[in-house]
Amino acid sequence: MKRATHLLATDLDGTFVGDRQGLDELLAFYNSQEYTVSLVYITGRHYRSALSLIEEENLPLPEVLVTDVGTEIHIGPSLEKDAEWETRMLEHWQPEVIDRIAATVEGLEKQDLPVSNRCSYYAGDLTVVETFEKELLAAEIPHKLIYSGGRDLDILPAASGKGAALDYILDKFEAREAKILVAGDSGNDLEMLSLGLPSVIVGNAQPELLESAESPLIFRASKACAGGIQEAWNHFHLK
Ligand code: GLC
Ligand code: MG
Repeated sequence: MKRATHLLATDLDGTFVGDRQGLDELLAFYNSQEYTVSLVYITGRHYRSALSLIEEENLPLPEVLVTDVGTEIHIGPSLEKDAEWETRMLEHWQPEVIDRIAATVEGLEKQDLPVSNRCSYYAGDLTVVETFEKELLAAEIPHKLIYSGGRDLDILPAASGKGAALDYILDKFEAREAKILVAGDSGNDLEMLSLGLPSVIVGNAQPELLESAESPLIFRASKACAGGIQEAWNHFHLK
């Protein structure tokens, strides 16, 4: 990434993607500005699934693509995997042990994914999540637990997550001075929305974000998806 002056770090499903007209307007707005907005996509999807979405929705290619809830970082234009991040992730990571414990918890269903750098499940309610968490703590397994949309449960390497990944990228590309906007709509976005950077919770967000703590740097948009990103961009950066 060239030294960014303006940077949008955004989740994809339900945030950047979800309102075609709003997205077209946002992209047209960015194109009409004198500055260039560097795009960083930070998604829960696995790498191939993220690429399919980018293709299906005809999204601009990002400068950085973070996938798997912040456990993989791919740097453009060839979207090469960041090996330093990968090494950091895999230290102390014990997916087999986590899966073995999960198999003993009733109400957890393993997600069918082609990855081992996160352990993701479906959990229908919070008591299941709490039981699992207790077991992981009792077994002293280093991890980060993230529950989104009342359904998706991600167990991640402790040093990963969307917020940790964004933090790493901003350092790596010396982008701390850029005008930044972070955008999200569900639980797995909370960590990156809480980094103390200008952030937006889009209008269609899941309850876990709508109920999250207020902060002057977290703008609550009334519009859904990309329309909400535009609202927040105007709020923070149109001066
Ligand atoms: C996306 C991923 C899923 C993950 C969820 C929450 O929906 O496809 O695997 O659990 O995000 O992070
Ligand atoms: Mg989302």
